[in-house]
Amino acid sequence: MTEPLGTMRRTHHCSELGANNIGNEVILMGWVQRRRDHGGVIFIDLRDKNGITQVVFNPDSNPVVHEKAHVLRGEFVIAVKGRVEARPEGMANPDLATGDIEVMVNDLKILNKAQTPPFMIEDNIEVSESIRLQHRHLDLRRPKIQRNIITRHRATMAIRNFMNGNGFLDIETPVLTKSTPEGARDYLVPSRINQGMFYALPQSPQLFKQLLMVSGFERYYQIVRCFRDEDLRADRQPEFTQVDMEMSFVGEEDVMGIAEGMVSAVFKEVKGITLKVPFDRMTYAEAMDRFGLDRPDLRFGLELKDISDIIKNSGFKVFADAVKKGGMVKALNAKGCENFSRKEIDDLTAFAAVYRAKGLAWVKVRENEWQSPITKFFSEDEKQQMAERLDMQPGDLVFFVADQAKVTNDALGNLRNHLGAKLGLINPNEFRFVWVTHFPMFEYDEAEKRYQATHHPFTSPLEADWERLETEPLSVNSRAYDMVLNGSEIGGGSIRIHQKDLQIRILNMLGMKKEEYEGKFGFLIAALDSGAPPHGGLAFGLDRLMAILCGSESIREVIPFPKTQKGACLLTDAPSAVSREQLMELALKIDLK
Ligand code: AMO
Ligand code: AMP
Repeated sequence: MTEPLGTMRRTHHCSELGANNIGNEVILMGWVQRRRDHGGVIFIDLRDKNGITQVVFNPDSNPVVHEKAHVLRGEFVIAVKGRVEARPEGMANPDLATGDIEVMVNDLKILNKAQTPPFMIEDNIEVSESIRLQHRHLDLRRPKIQRNIITRHRATMAIRNFMNGNGFLDIETPVLTKSTPEGARDYLVPSRINQGMFYALPQSPQLFKQLLMVSGFERYYQIVRCFRDEDLRADRQPEFTQVDMEMSFVGEEDVMGIAEGMVSAVFKEVKGITLKVPFDRMTYAEAMDRFGLDRPDLRFGLELKDISDIIKNSGFKVFADAVKKGGMVKALNAKGCENFSRKEIDDLTAFAAVYRAKGLAWVKVRENEWQSPITKFFSEDEKQQMAERLDMQPGDLVFFVADQAKVTNDALGNLRNHLGAKLGLINPNEFRFVWVTHFPMFEYDEAEKRYQATHHPFTSPLEADWERLETEPLSVNSRAYDMVLNGSEIGGGSIRIHQKDLQIRILNMLGMKKEEYEGKFGFLIAALDSGAPPHGGLAFGLDRLMAILCGSESIREVIPFPKTQKGACLLTDAPSAVSREQLMELALKIDLK
């Protein structure tokens, strides 16, 4: 049934034809989007990468070709030759760019057949994501996904133009390498030639880009794949793409300025929007205090207030005890939500519990009274102070969480985002950028009983804090910065340590003895000892940035071949078992427990 293309060549794309082509002989090629038979006349919506054109097979004017068109089904690949004609009175389709015309076909070539696709190749389909991912090559034909992929291309083009124009060199770094700890687990690759040894896939090119600064390249960038074996979420993939950059002889403001310029170039290209730079800055401490998260969404209010000082001696034991145990009580005033039902409050309590909150206390503010299971525990003075600090007005609903700072902030910060969406306070067309700065250098890992680097171990502490590194490590701030857009961390970086001695002090603080750090980072320490310039940089999460630009809920919508939450590629069925021979070559034995 199918025929070769032969010498036929397309003259136009399916989006191009309009009233001014009427009378032209044209050749179009593409896929059958839809077929309709109307009293003998067959109408085909022909689709290619740019759009759709209606092509018509008329039994009166061309019976042979019309007969042939009977076999056409959805997703068949065809070439048609015909004349562009105006559509009859009243038949124009204003929803279609080419809706004024149709092509009267006088020659048809069926270039390929197709099985009936498992879903329609159009935007608003109701089909599970797993079916879509299983047939991703078809899913990618849908206009919305096509647009996302094309938008991604335009964004990376704008990025390359901007970086190239600012003197950055695009330099590749290895994929088979030694692990660079960024906090996640490594993907390992066994070596055949060195049996029993493994490469790690890079979590980022962090150390290589620092080495490139030591080598004197001064400005590096790369659009690069990174690999992290971590629990996946809507905004995390096991392999994802960074726009990675590094600069020599710079401070925070230089790196942030370049990053702002780059993002501005992308927004100009993709959205036609001129961003206002410089972006706002906020310290980590302020972000945590006001929003409970280090990636605050500034598009709406509902800020958190610490009321620990007010209730520290309160009759409500849950609150008072939390403060006595070194924790805190914070509150969030959901303005005008006094009418929330019992069920709504229970749902929000369950939401907060996901972030380990042990409860979610609440007060409904009515004229002259507070309605709440806990009001009775508060003195008039405490109520007075809370009312003032939280601006409690009749009609308000106030939520409270009492716990260690980490839990309180996490629960209320996420509840704030949840309420912002639930109450419709978020304008989806607004883009609010903020730099979060002055992160703590270390976090204490209770489980492992040791300090960890908040950013990564190569981030420089603030110079003024160096003297407290060993004595009060949790009070030391780092020179790290994150770019946050609409509550999403789209990029992060830091000014690095470029002195060998300081780097060793930090590695010591992380519990590494000489033998361990020399084994793991000997090459870095040698490099720092060979004339390393001051340097710093940043990496954007390109997938996250694209998801926001494309208005997608998940980064899977902007990645051509993404993986599921379980790290599987449903299209190819990766990961999969390998043959015994392959394992033998690697001297690997799988323990099937
Ligand atoms: P960081 O670990 O913060 O920094 O990563 C940089 C950015 O990459 C994105 N990102 C991810 N996107 C999708 N899936 C993931 N699993 C994932 N993990 C991270 C985030 C994040 O802001 N080497 C440092 C950068 C530097 O210091 O220059 C680094 O990798 O948007
Ligand atoms: P209880 O005294 O346990 O009955 O709790 C009374 C109210 O306080 C309930 O609404 C609980 O959800 C809430 N609550 C309990 N523990 C906490 C906590 N740690 N933080 C905030 N509210 C809590």
